[in-house]
Formats: sequence, structure tokens, C-alpha cells
Amino acid sequence: MEQQRVRVGIVGPTGYAGMELVRLLAQHPYMDITYLAGSGAHTGPIGDALPHLRRLSKLPPVSAFSANACAESCDLAFVALPSGESGSIAVELAQRGVRAIDLSGDLRLPGDVYRTWYQREPVADDVLARAVYGLPELNRADVSAASLVANPGCYATAAILALRPLVDWVKSKRVGPVVIDAKSGATGAGRAAKQNLQLGELANDFYPYRVGAHQHTPEIEQGLDGVFQILLTTQLLPIPRGIFVSAYVSLDPDLAADIHARYASFYESAPFVDVLPPGHVPHIKSVAGTNDCQVSVAWNERTGILQVFSAIDNLGKGAAGQALQNANLMCGFDETTGLTETSLWT
Ligand SMILES: NC(=O)c1ccc[n+]([C@@H]2O[C@H](COP(=O)([O-])OP(=O)(O)OC[C@H]3O[C@@H](n4cnc5c(N)ncnc54)[C@H](OP(=O)(O)O)[C@@H]3O)[C@@H](O)[C@H]2O)c1
Repeated sequence: MEQQRVRVGIVGPTGYAGMELVRLLAQHPYMDITYLAGSGAHTGPIGDALPHLRRLSKLPPVSAFSANACAESCDLAFVALPSGESGSIAVELAQRGVRAIDLSGDLRLPGDVYRTWYQREPVADDVLARAVYGLPELNRADVSAASLVANPGCYATAAILALRPLVDWVKSKRVGPVVIDAKSGATGAGRAAKQNLQLGELANDFYPYRVGAHQHTPEIEQGLDGVFQILLTTQLLPIPRGIFVSAYVSLDPDLAADIHARYASFYESAPFVDVLPPGHVPHIKSVAGTNDCQVSVAWNERTGILQVFSAIDNLGKGAAGQALQNANLMCGFDETTGLTETSLWT
């Protein structure tokens, strides 16, 4: 039987997450890009704004966003705008019958938590309640049935995937705060010009930012069912893409027994999570340009601390790749469709 084709729109195609969506969707066997729109700062052929996409000649021109035009031309839309702009547009599209995936942080948290960590007003609670948190490794069935999806944050994805297998095992035991040391490539901060992202500032430097205040902290705690309190340190690496998480968990030795086998079994049916063999560690270069997450565990008997490492591409599993994985599920396609790229090592 011939596969039904899906008309998709991308709102924010000139941003880092949006342009990665264009790149992925242009090769999707069952999805056609029928709508591209942004703020109006760039209109016309997308190749004029983004030369690497110039040869994708069948794409519609970029226009200034209009909910009417989007609803008319799409069955499903990806909304990849800054937080504060993105969520309400995704909600409006969903209300008009367009399945919507919001890549921002606007729909991921309860309203009161969002207000505290994002320092702005959330969308209404009844609307938030409709949005499904789009981490398929946690809630594949809910995503498949969703019409409005909150795509997870990049640090949150890497951290939750690193720690989620522990949740059920530690539930009954008290575990101290989990320390997460997380690093991101510069595209994680978006494409708008900022002084700290200029080459002269970023190159040859390394330091933490938003210490104790990063908005992915509550998202990670929520994604781990509140079992762990999280201490998150975020740092910007002087590379374009990639997230690397090192997490440290004080664990009872009995829980640490067979830890590798437990992780491997937890992710047995997760096509994008690769639990590495003992003695191996994730590499950012191994996941760049893919939707993969590499995870490794190392039990340190001397200190009683479990080290968990994970790596993703912030624009892949951390944004556009994951959004496409969610869209595949929402459309009834195999979740790996259009996402089988291998990384470029060098
Ligand atoms: N970058 C990442 O690694 C990453 C990872 C996970 C999640 N996210 C989230 O994904 C979203 C997009 O991130 P990004 O890094 O791609 O941002 P970005 O590079 O700054 O791009 C933002 C895009 O939004 C458009 N835009 C801004 N205001 C608009 C408005 N009022 N109406 C219509 N379009 C508007 C811009 O279009 P114009 O060029 O036309 O102004 C641009 O295409 C953010 O919410 C971010 O938190 C990003």
C-alpha cells in the first residue's frame, strides 16, 4: 500500500534548529515541506539566506509567518522560534487542526515552574496540559497519539537519557543530589549575534554560565520523575555542535552490580540510544549530524560513585532530529525514518 504523504511546515527555518529540520525533511521519504516562514527578516528562496540549502530547489519560499497560511498548507508544523514566541504559535496551530511540535521551552513545564525558571508568563494551564513531552524513549505511546508536542531541551535530553535507567531502581532508596556537568557547542545558544559567541571571545576559553539557574534543571528533574535533585553546571565549548554530559551519582554498591547490563536492557528497544560496551566512552564526534545518543556507565567502587556519560548533537537528538523522531511517531511512520545518517568523524 502506498504511504500517505504528510505536508509539513517549518516556522523558523533560518535558525539553527529550523535549518537542520529543512536539511532532514528535504530527504524524508513520506514528508513534503510545503511551508517555510519566519519573522519576515528573510523572505524568498531559502538558498538566498542559507547557501548550503540552495540546491533544494523544490522548497517553498520563506514568508513572514501567518497562522492562516500555515494551517492551509500543512498537516504538521515544527515551530522553532525563541522561547516566549514559539509556544503560543504552536498552540494556535494545534487549535487550528495542525499537529504541532514546539522546539522551545514554552510547553515543557507546569506554568508556575516555567514562570520561576524562564522569568516570563507561561501559556494557560489547560493548554499546557494538552502538550505531550516528546522524549520517545520515555513515552513513545503518548507521543504517537499527540497533536501537540513539547520537544525536549538539548541538555535535558542528554541528561535524562543518561540517568533515566536508574529511576526505578533507586526509587525506594534515598540518593543524594546528582551532579551533572554538561557542555554544549555554540549553536546551542541560537544564531542571533551575541558578544560572547564571537570567535574572539569563544575560542581558547571555557567557563560555566547560568550557574545554579539554568532553565533545564527543572526539566531534567521532571524527566526523572522527581526522584533525583539535580545540580546542573552548563558550559559552552568552543565547537559548533554537540552536548556532552558527565553525571555523578552516589549509589549503593548492590544497585551498581550489573549496571552495564541493566542500562543495555533498558534501552534494548530504543533505536537511537547506544549503550557503549564497558571501557568505552561517548564522543561528540560520533553523534554529530545524527539523532543518536551514546551512553556509557562506569562504577567507581573506591568512592561509591557511578559515572554516567552521554553525548548527543544538540541540533540532532537535542532539537531537530528528535522533533522528526516525534513527527514520525505522530504520523504512524517508523520512528527512524529519515534519521539513519551516520556521523561525520572528521
Ligand atoms: N539551538 C539548539 O541547539 C536548540 C536545541 C534545542 C532547542 N532549541 C530551541 O529551539 C528554538 C530555536 O532555536 P535556534 O537555536 O534555532 O534559534 P535561532 O537560531 O535564534 O533561530 C530563531 C528563528 O526564529 C525566527 N523568529 C524569531 N522571532 C520570530 C517571530 N516573532 N516570528 C517568526 N519567526 C521568528 C528567526 O527567524 P528570522 O531569521 O526570520 O528572524 C529564526 O529563524 C528555541 O526555542 C531554542 O530554545 C534550540
